[in-house]
Amino acid sequence: MQKKKLTAVITSQKEIAPGIFDMWIATELAKGAVPGQFICLYPKDKSTLLPRPISICEADKEKEQLRIVYRVAGKGTAEFSAYKEGDTVEVLGTLGNGFPVEEATGKKVFLMGGGIGIPPMLELAKNMQADKQIVVGYRDDKTFLREDLEKNGTVYIATEDGSVGTKGNVMDAIRENGLQADMIFACGPMPMLRAIKKYAEEAGIPAYISLEEHMACGVGACLGCVVKTKEKDHHSHVHNARICTDGPVFEAREVDI
Ligand SMILES: Cc1cc2nc3c(=O)[nH]c(=O)nc-3n(C[C@H](O)[C@H](O)[C@H](O)COP(=O)(O)OP(=O)(O)OC[C@H]3O[C@@H](n4cnc5c(N)ncnc54)[C@H](O)[C@@H]3O)c2cc1C
Ligand code: FES
Repeated sequence: MQKKKLTAVITSQKEIAPGIFDMWIATELAKGAVPGQFICLYPKDKSTLLPRPISICEADKEKEQLRIVYRVAGKGTAEFSAYKEGDTVEVLGTLGNGFPVEEATGKKVFLMGGGIGIPPMLELAKNMQADKQIVVGYRDDKTFLREDLEKNGTVYIATEDGSVGTKGNVMDAIRENGLQADMIFACGPMPMLRAIKKYAEEAGIPAYISLEEHMACGVGACLGCVVKTKEKDHHSHVHNARICTDGPVFEAREVDI
């Protein structure tokens, strides 16, 4: 589906953990959404020029609604968090390549999410026909999206302070529970993705990682989001890829992170 800039209507919003907001918006973009894709939301405050990228957490294609779950990080997300039911927001989407869901069919997989990398794992889990081990990492017991994830796979939790599940990170949860998989799908902070890339290489299994790096234009024009790649780009003949258009999902072996 072609990307479009549209006005969406907020149909609900609530705070589901301190500083973490859960918003549903009515938009026809839901119809073509693929797990792992994202949308860009435009703040109304003109001092925040750039649109803010947020992953699709759920897509209700029948009702034509998208769910996003985001952390208030600065001015843009603070503005979004004040929106109420019936307010509108300009959105651009759907953007990015998304996860190769079909490749997991019939396999045993890890769906790994860290912090604000957890939301895209929900739409992915809902669309995947596989033996799903969902391994998620939070800071503390202020967990979110747990019940939704539990409906779509077996959930293992790690917390930095040890208040829920394994003390440590998602890799510690895998080790403590003696888990194994044929494939990995992951989204989260860069140190977590580096650890997953290393683990996948040692285990000889593919890992698809979503790089939620800083972005500016979100549509491939500014080169503000490049990542080093193993192979040369077909067009520019350099070892670079744009996360916003070539990603955000990459096979871990293909990128230098
Ligand atoms: C493809 C993609 C998907 C994303 N999905 C989600 C999501 O589902 N939920 C969610 O909460 N966030 C997500 N993010 C991060 C989100 O875009 C940023 O938190 C947001 O743009 C911050 O905007 P702001 O105006 O509130 O903060 P700003 O004032 O712009 O920044 C506040 C702080 O956050 C840092 N920051 C800004 N952008 C990013 C970023 N992309 N990654 C890490 N730190 C950043 C800044 O350096 C600064 O320290 C995603 C980012 C990308 C690129
Ligand atoms: S954000 Fe501008 S090229 Fe990716």
